[in-house]
Amino acid sequence: MTKMKYHLEAIFNFSGSLPEESQEDIQQFFEEFTEKIQESRKEGKFSITSWERKDSNLLLVISSIESLLPHIAILRIRKQLSAIIGKKFRIGLRGFKFSKYTIETELDDKPLKEFTLPFTKKIKFSEKDDKNLVSIEIDPAIPEDFVEKGAIERIIRRVNEKVSKQHYGAKKEHHEIVWYSGEKKQFTDKNPTQLMQKANWIQRTNYRNQFILTPTITTLVEALKQIMVDSVYKPLGFDQMMIPKLVDWSVWLRSEHAEGIYQGGFEPYFVVQPKEPTPEYFEEVADYITITKTIPDDMLYDKITAPIGGLSYAQCPPFWVWLQGKTLAKESLPIKIYDWSGPTYRYEAGSAYGFERVDELHRIETLFIGSPEQTKEIGLQVRDKLRLIFEDVLDLEFREAKVMPWWLQQSAHEEEMDEADDLVVGTIDFEAYMPYRGNRDDSEWLEMQNISIIGHKYPKGFSVKAEGNIELWSGCGGGSFERFLTAFISQKGLEKENWPDTFLKYIDKLPKPVKFH
Ligand code: SER
Ligand code: ZN
Repeated sequence: MTKMKYHLEAIFNFSGSLPEESQEDIQQFFEEFTEKIQESRKEGKFSITSWERKDSNLLLVISSIESLLPHIAILRIRKQLSAIIGKKFRIGLRGFKFSKYTIETELDDKPLKEFTLPFTKKIKFSEKDDKNLVSIEIDPAIPEDFVEKGAIERIIRRVNEKVSKQHYGAKKEHHEIVWYSGEKKQFTDKNPTQLMQKANWIQRTNYRNQFILTPTITTLVEALKQIMVDSVYKPLGFDQMMIPKLVDWSVWLRSEHAEGIYQGGFEPYFVVQPKEPTPEYFEEVADYITITKTIPDDMLYDKITAPIGGLSYAQCPPFWVWLQGKTLAKESLPIKIYDWSGPTYRYEAGSAYGFERVDELHRIETLFIGSPEQTKEIGLQVRDKLRLIFEDVLDLEFREAKVMPWWLQQSAHEEEMDEADDLVVGTIDFEAYMPYRGNRDDSEWLEMQNISIIGHKYPKGFSVKAEGNIELWSGCGGGSFERFLTAFISQKGLEKENWPDTFLKYIDKLPKPVKFH
């Protein structure tokens, strides 16, 4: 293993000139400081190779091999030195700046192409004795508080992560079929979106991948909701709530979605605010629209802020604001909720899709929080009940697959899945066969619903604790009505005669579609 080497040149700035008499105190402090580090670490070498007083500045050069990171040393020195200098010479330590900071280390993989990162000046790759090395030069302009909050460590990690990604692509695919309903009789091999469009059940809007859901299809959605309530939520004791659908950055920072933005798993719609919400500020826009009957994009663009966040994407992250920073009473555990209070939004890249892949989708979210035991148990119960719906109520041909967990996919962090058997920490997808796409083996099946046991990620991310230090876990599942129905129609078609009684039971009267001449 090649050693990690650091070289840092930094400048401390004081409120006044450092007097001659401080020379000895500083020298002594540095010697003790270095000694302490050497004593506490058996390996590696840490040294302050030189230092110099220059007016109100103190210039410092630190070299470290496999030892304390020099910027951590700088933070500690700042604290200790400011106490010494402040007390004896009545001079305040204002802050520090880097003039040069290089970090050399070994990479796990061979870099395929160069890249840059924020707060780096240069990232240089080299090879030596069959090892892939990198030299990272930190941009001296990196703000002090970012250094304090761990940005340097994350730069080093990010370099490694990015190099590894050059090899594996954005995501490591993971898909293992763990259960299959077996073959079912199929009543159609037509494209379900086209069937529903022709029958006037759904209609495309002027906007990309968005559909109008007519009374006919809405009746089916209502039936599905009721089936979920009767089959999952009532028997398992879930309560309904309404999770916000506008999500500000603070939520996506804590859920780590923000870090995966447009990296292949998290494609949100952004939300902006008016810079000034006044009639005067927008008068020219209003005038322009009135006169031209068109929208002045550039004029508008000037009057809005950068995104403050976006529209709900994964449904459950904004739930956590409720519990953020709180300690849950033991008697309130486990918490079991569901939400269908509004659509969620995904900017689906690529060409126009059908009803199975809409930008505005109507999802029902299942969410549970409790001790690890409670969470595991509820996760398994929900999975059983969902299987019951797809199998016994809708009579679908579907399978269950263990996949890359949604929170890893959406945050774009690579982490290994838990090895433990079946559903411990991880995501199970429910996927339906769609005859119009081809035969069972080669065609792409449709993910209708997932269920996950997430572990401690969310309680941790949102600083949620439980009485008596009970460890908190959570789990969740999402299913979209658009997808349930696409799957159902793609197997059963539009003729009610071919629909199972267990589903028909939930439909009083299917409104006749409006006809157009
Ligand atoms: N939050 C999960 C997802 O995004 C379940 O809804 O898929
Ligand atoms: Zn969720």
